[in-house]
Amino acid sequence: MNSINNGYSYSKICLGTWRMGGDVTLNQNNDDQKDIDAIRYAISKGISHIDTSESYAGGKTELLIGEAIKQIPRDKCFIATKVREYNLFYDNVIDSCKKSLKRLNTSYIDLYYVHKQNPNIPIEETASAFNKLLEMDLIKHIGLSNVGIDTIKNYSQLLNSPIYAVQNQYNLVCRESQKKGVIDYCKRNEIQFIAWRPILLSYPGVVDPYYRTGTYKLLDEMAAKYNKTNTQIVAKWLLQQDGVSFVFKSSNKEHIDEILEVEKFRLSDRDWEILDKEFPVQKDLGCTADGYFELS
Ligand SMILES: NC(=O)c1ccc[n+]([C@@H]2O[C@H](COP(=O)([O-])OP(=O)(O)OC[C@H]3O[C@@H](n4cnc5c(N)ncnc54)[C@H](OP(=O)(O)O)[C@@H]3O)[C@@H](O)[C@H]2O)c1
Repeated sequence: MNSINNGYSYSKICLGTWRMGGDVTLNQNNDDQKDIDAIRYAISKGISHIDTSESYAGGKTELLIGEAIKQIPRDKCFIATKVREYNLFYDNVIDSCKKSLKRLNTSYIDLYYVHKQNPNIPIEETASAFNKLLEMDLIKHIGLSNVGIDTIKNYSQLLNSPIYAVQNQYNLVCRESQKKGVIDYCKRNEIQFIAWRPILLSYPGVVDPYYRTGTYKLLDEMAAKYNKTNTQIVAKWLLQQDGVSFVFKSSNKEHIDEILEVEKFRLSDRDWEILDKEFPVQKDLGCTADGYFELS
């Protein structure tokens, strides 16, 4: 499960938390305990990297994570959160980070991302705030999300530490990071590439948002051949790629177990390539947040 980048070991499966506690705003009827239990369960099973953002459920998601990890030794968890594109001026970044720390109930963030670029805010300003946060020891590593190679290079020149992770949307359908060489670039530069939304599909032309049986013949055949579920096959297609990790969300312990099972088998190189080349819906998007489709 572990790989190495920048001298650090990391796990290739991370737990996402979008839609824990709500979506853009908090859901008063959310089953908070179920989400907290899922986070604790994932950590107990070795998925220590928990991914969130200041914006999820209007900040509620970070509170749930804070609650989930409060009895767990801090060094057994790896907490990643993000500052939104509307908070990228220097003072706002510092302020956002301090608010996230408070909600997460921790003294440091393991991985702090720029969630999405804002063309109206100079990246020098944002990078300088991230450098300050490093200096203050409030964050341990820096990540970028929804970016192409040029943006990664621009930040690299301004940051006082190597970029630790790039998080872009990437799955069998959403191929921009693969086609534009972002994944190869990350690999060459020892940056962990983390694919977001590995399971859920929400694109025009995609008939089944969950790769369910009966939708894609190719996937059904592959699942039958390996005696796995369709979800496990698509997850394995990602995980088997050198330098690629993924962040999936689940509040369901059986689903978490199902994803962990993925580590116990391997697709043949030929089958990996068939999926790669022949999966019937492929789109050139996934790097920029303006080029992906959100669920309405
Ligand atoms: N950087 C960004 O801009 C960005 C954008 C979006 C998301 N993200 C991150 O990426 C994470 C993952 O993306 P996502 O949550 O949008 O999509 P996802 O992880 O691809 O899919 C989540 C959905 O799949 C279901 N699921 C999970 N495991 C399953 C399994 N084994 N079998 C069947 N269904 C399963 C979940 O339901 P259950 O809960 O019932 O299992 C949930 O409805 C997010 O949570 C977030 O942390 C980042």
